[in-house]
Amino acid sequence: MSKSSKPTLTTEAGAPVADNQNSTSAGIGGPLLLQDQHLLEKLARFNRERIPERVVHARGSGAYGYFEVTDDVSAYTSAHFLGEVGRRTETFARFSTVADSLGGPDAARDPRGFALKFYTEEGNYDLVGNNTPVFFIKDPLKFPDFIHSQKRDPFTGKQEPDNVWDFWANSPEATHQVTWLMGDRGIPASYRHMNGYGSHTYQWTNAEGETFFVKYHFKTNQGIRCLSAEQGAELSGSDPNSHQTDLLQSIERGVYPSWTLYVQVMPAAEAADYRFNPFDLTKIWPHKDHPLIRVGRLVLDRNPDNVFAEVEQSAFSPNNFVPGIGPSPDKMLQGRLFAYADAHRYRLGVNHTQLAVNAPKAVATGANNYGRDGLMATNAYDRHAKNYEPNSYGGPVETGAPLSAPQPVTGHWGTHEAPQHTKDDDFFQAGELYRLMSEEEKNRLVANIAGGLSQVSREDVVEKNIAHFAAADPEYGKRVEEAVRELQEG
Ligand code: HEM
Repeated sequence: MSKSSKPTLTTEAGAPVADNQNSTSAGIGGPLLLQDQHLLEKLARFNRERIPERVVHARGSGAYGYFEVTDDVSAYTSAHFLGEVGRRTETFARFSTVADSLGGPDAARDPRGFALKFYTEEGNYDLVGNNTPVFFIKDPLKFPDFIHSQKRDPFTGKQEPDNVWDFWANSPEATHQVTWLMGDRGIPASYRHMNGYGSHTYQWTNAEGETFFVKYHFKTNQGIRCLSAEQGAELSGSDPNSHQTDLLQSIERGVYPSWTLYVQVMPAAEAADYRFNPFDLTKIWPHKDHPLIRVGRLVLDRNPDNVFAEVEQSAFSPNNFVPGIGPSPDKMLQGRLFAYADAHRYRLGVNHTQLAVNAPKAVATGANNYGRDGLMATNAYDRHAKNYEPNSYGGPVETGAPLSAPQPVTGHWGTHEAPQHTKDDDFFQAGELYRLMSEEEKNRLVANIAGGLSQVSREDVVEKNIAHFAAADPEYGKRVEEAVRELQEG
């Protein structure tokens, strides 16, 4: 303790600091000295306070809570954390915008990330979804190009309508998601007022080894609330942190946001003959084919103590499964199974799973394996334990039980388009979504699209996009065309 009742300020090495107001100089008014450890350390640490931001979903907010099972789904999955009504599992959630960088506004027109980490007794299960049930593309090879087209242009240094709409003009499979994004739900009023979706099809396996394909739907219990284009633009300027403030304050006030989880379930044997490819991320499964089955509820009731340590350093990977849950043949999902942990090793380092927010809680020592070293190793392993396997010293061993059931494959290796089912096409479901909208919703959708498309400099790009909307529904295409022409002429 210092002379006052406050604790003593120390250097990184724990030595007391004599002066935190004046640097050490050679005499009064003289130059500063290299021996001033406190000054050098303070400036050097400051220079290193930033790590690479996430290449996508850089801007986000996080909170802790729990998932509670309300309905018995053991017929479909053997996952322990879903195994008993009333069972609670600690959960961490991170919500995000996609395209902008860390300082971007929360109220942007953009999909929102909906990433969950369930700290289950069988290891961490990460479900890394969005607030949209579909996505823009269906092959991971296109993802870097897609994201480049939506982020800043390498020459102008800003987001370009030319690039955004050029990519979509040449990616007809994006029409469904573009319709979704340009509609009312494109700007949620807050993270609490939106649904979350796993979006991909995942595999569940029950205790008997039967397999099912599932889609996850987290329905907000706060009700869906959205902002108009004008409200979004206004709020982006006046309160860029609007979603962060809303989530933080709501939990601080004890008004805990919650979502009810439902799943759609398809017995695995039905997948091959379904009328469209059930692993195509640009399509939803109609509820009349596969009704929603309730599973449980997610409640967020605790704010992180430190945004950098717990939110910026949180790391979610779609490849983190637990027994009873696994991937499907969805190519996009397959690509994501690689991309995330690779991003974490770059952004946070190989030992990011030892950080408290990422560490599994199933085993007291965190991960129980033979990976030890690497930058910033802080693990609690027994330092005398062997770091190789097999060994004769009682180290951890494999179970021999795959997490999920094997899936059959056929054919030759090579680059293939996704399998075509009888009713596969890029536009039908976009048309269905358009036809579901009220007249006012259609007006706003068309105005939002025209607002962007009318800024595009190339007529062929404008026409290709209009053709996509027309293929979804002729009236949709006609209205977009009229609105674009009006803005171009005005
Ligand atoms: C092949 C397609 C995709 C690739 C390669 C990809 C890759 C990435 C990468 C590299 C990150 C940054 C991870 C980090 O630094 O922590 C990220 C973040 C994220 N992605 Fe994707 N992504 C893809 C598609 C999707 C889809 C389809 C969804 C939703 C269904 C999605 C949801 C998210 C979310 C929510 C985050 C933020 C996670 C967090 O809060 O830390 N991504 N993605």
